[in-house]
Amino acid sequence: MTAGIDKLNFFVPPYYLEMTELANARNVDPAKYTIGIGQDQMAISPITQDIITLAANAAQPILTDEDRQTIDLVILGTESSVDESKAAAVVLHRLLGIQPFARGIELKEACYSATAGLQFAKEYVLAHPERKALVIASDIARYGLHSGGEPTQGAGAVAMLVTSQPRILALSDESVPYTQDIYDFWRPTGEPYPVVNGPLSNQTYIQAFETVWQEYQQRYQKTLADFAALAFHIPYTKMGKKALLAGLAQESEAEQNRILAQYEESIRYSRRVGNLYTGSLYLGLISLLENSQTLKAGDKLGLFSYGSGAVAEFFTGRLVPGYQEHLLTDAHEALLANRQALSVAAYEEVFQTPLTNENLTASTDTTAFRLTAVNDHIRYYQE
Ligand code: HMG
Repeated sequence: MTAGIDKLNFFVPPYYLEMTELANARNVDPAKYTIGIGQDQMAISPITQDIITLAANAAQPILTDEDRQTIDLVILGTESSVDESKAAAVVLHRLLGIQPFARGIELKEACYSATAGLQFAKEYVLAHPERKALVIASDIARYGLHSGGEPTQGAGAVAMLVTSQPRILALSDESVPYTQDIYDFWRPTGEPYPVVNGPLSNQTYIQAFETVWQEYQQRYQKTLADFAALAFHIPYTKMGKKALLAGLAQESEAEQNRILAQYEESIRYSRRVGNLYTGSLYLGLISLLENSQTLKAGDKLGLFSYGSGAVAEFFTGRLVPGYQEHLLTDAHEALLANRQALSVAAYEEVFQTPLTNENLTASTDTTAFRLTAVNDHIRYYQE
């Protein structure tokens, strides 16, 4: 029996900033951002969008009434929690109208947690083939104005419906998770921004990929030739490429180029959005599926998930016959194209706007799900 991704959608907030404008404002050569880091635009989240609205906006368009009645698990992976106790998935469960006899939980491990959620969901639907699970990755990546990580910010959510008859990607049992206790990026409770050791985070990301890729090849007796493409966690688009070149250094130039060509397709959306944290790998997967002209049904894909701290995982899946018919390519292109560009001054203002009811009321955000008020720390939403 198989299990995997049956439906797949992403949502990003309605504003963005051109990276060349940010570079000019910060007295940096724009090529550092567009080539050195590999980002063209950065998603900006207004105060009316939090991880719950981003998640709801990503999930709502793919759910039918039948899905709502058969989903038993709502798992939200995030590192931008809005509450230390109550899971955002519980609110999401209500906003999406999921049947009541379901589990709603939030998972945390930096950018990795949605991958754990996907694996838990896979095991659940294998044990209960008539039922479904909804896994959502939702985050707002913020490092602060003028910070070293500023050009690698972003925001958005990816929603995945997991079933035992997946129409997009059938997940295999081949996977290599990897945990090591390091401090490359972390956010102490109550702190608005993470503490980051940028160079160390780059090194550990690369080292984690090399480690899981080598272990995977030994454990399952597979080689790069078995794969049509690899998708990576994309904190900025140059990062996956660096890991790929390091991890595949022993491969022939032709093999490296074959995988690099697919990597370019996987980063098209991230170049326009930035880091989604938990959703970045899955935004890369969507970009790969919607932009690659050479992938076909039956192709094997490898996915590399990385969350600082750190947990990584290399896992695999196969494209299901007819998968192309279940992609939302036109809607995704429209979502990205219809965003409003902000000036650097407007971005800084949005970034610093305090979360008050007055500011929420004054917002011009017209997105379907949005935050409208916060009273006694209870969040109220336009549904
Ligand atoms: P930095 O110090 O601003 O940049 O930090 P740099 O000096 O390292 O330069 C970046 C690249 O631009 C270099 O290329 C330069 O050569 C190049 P590389 O050598 O690496 O290939 N460059 C130029 N290229 C063209 N023209 C120019 C030019 N100037 C320089 N004129 C850094 C960059 C990404 C470290 C910083 O933005 C940062 O700390 N970001 C946040 C941390 C991060 O994203 N780490 C990634 C790995 S960890 C991860 O993925 C987990 C994460 O998603 C969190 C989670 O799990 O929750 C972050």
